[in-house]
Formats: sequence, structure tokens, C-alpha cells
Amino acid sequence: MAMKKAASPPYIDLHAHILPGFDDGPETVEESIEMARAYVEAGYAAVVATPHVIPGVYENTRASILRGVKRLQQRLHDAGIPLTVLPGAEYHLTDRLVPLLQEGGVLTLNDTGKHLLVELPWVHLPAYASQVLFELLLAGVTPIIAHPERNEFLARHPEVLRGFSRRGVLAQVTAGALTGLFGPAERRASRIFIEEGTAQFVATDAHNAGRRLKAGPEAMRLLGAKAQLLICEHPAAVINGAAIYAAASRER
Ligand SMILES: [Fe+2]
Repeated sequence: MAMKKAASPPYIDLHAHILPGFDDGPETVEESIEMARAYVEAGYAAVVATPHVIPGVYENTRASILRGVKRLQQRLHDAGIPLTVLPGAEYHLTDRLVPLLQEGGVLTLNDTGKHLLVELPWVHLPAYASQVLFELLLAGVTPIIAHPERNEFLARHPEVLRGFSRRGVLAQVTAGALTGLFGPAERRASRIFIEEGTAQFVATDAHNAGRRLKAGPEAMRLLGAKAQLLICEHPAAVINGAAIYAAASRER
């Protein structure tokens, strides 16, 4: 009987600053194309473009991001680079987020209306944070907390992320944190979140073709069998708008 050849897994990066001129990612389309080539080299089939949306700093809109993704995808197609770019955004968690959602101004991951990538401040957890997260859940949108290991409070108090997780909040660890790129505290926290099942995704959060992006394949090796779930299956569920249940919400 002929052996069936295992297909290489379709790695998907759920958090990527790849659109040119939208934030602190690439400034030119040439830099975006360089990133796209690096993604293909690293084994990714698709990336979700997630430019920052920070009021007063990066005022990217749903419409501008959708246009930017279309433009970049065309350029990649013309250049023969086999990388799919999907629309998304990384929203700074503010008390303006739920009203923006209600006005129809929010861009969810792959525009399915199901999952929203949100970023917390680096040091503290704002008083309104849990309220905003739960209001998003009530509105039918599952928040995915970007790099919880970079928030000093969550890194020191993994039980707080467990509490969010029990309510249905998801989280994404950054590949570079796992590989030690940001230091021992972030490495330790990122490993705890993955072990506890409070993080369901590993993404690069790359802003250029450099170290954060290259940490992607290194994280795949470190994760071993878990890479399939954290960098393939869970991101694929998100881009298809399917539900993901956090292990921690069932077991703890
Ligand atoms: Fe980011």
C-alpha cells in the first residue's frame, strides 16, 4: 500500500504589521514585499494584516485597512509571492471600542465579525479592561488579547488571564517571547499561558522582515506537536469565523 505523504502544515500568522504606511510597520510596499517573502520562507501560507488602531496615534479605519489589504494582495500576486493576506487590526483596548463596534466601525479578524485582536497597555490593566472585554463577548465578538506576556500585570498574575479565559476571552502569545527575544520574564509568562491553555495562538507580531518574524519558525520547533494547534488549526478556525474553546475555561 502506498504511503500517504504528509502535507506541510499551512501556518497562519494571526498578528502581522505588514501593510505599508499604516503604523510602525513597513513604510514602503517594497518593505512589505520583503516581509511577505520572509513569511513564505518561514513556512507561512497566510497572514492576517493587523495594523494598530490607537485613537490619536494610528487612526486606521475599517475601510482604509480593507483597501490596503486588497492593494498589497494584488502586489504580491503580481510578484508571484504565494502568501495570502487577510484583513484585520490590532485595537488598543479603550472604552471607545464597544461604541465603535456598535457603529459598525470595527474590523474583526478576517472580517468575520467573530474575533477581535485587542492590545492592552504595557504595564497596568486599566480599570475598564474587564468591562470592555465582557461587553465585547456579550456583543458576540470574542476578544483575543495580543501578547498578554508583554503586559507586566498579566505576566505577574497568570490567574487574572485564567479568570478572563473562563469567561471565553482568548489570547495570543508572541513567537519572540517564547524564544526569549524579549527577555526571561516574557519567556516565562508566555510558556505559562501556553501550558495553562489560556493562550490559544502563537503569532509573530512582526513589524519588518527581521527578528520577530524569524522567531516564528523557531517557535514552531520549540512548540513541537503543539505548533499544529497554535499556529495552524486555531488561526484557521479564526479566519473561518469558527468558535475556539479555551482549555482553561473547561478545566479550571
Ligand atoms: Fe502588534
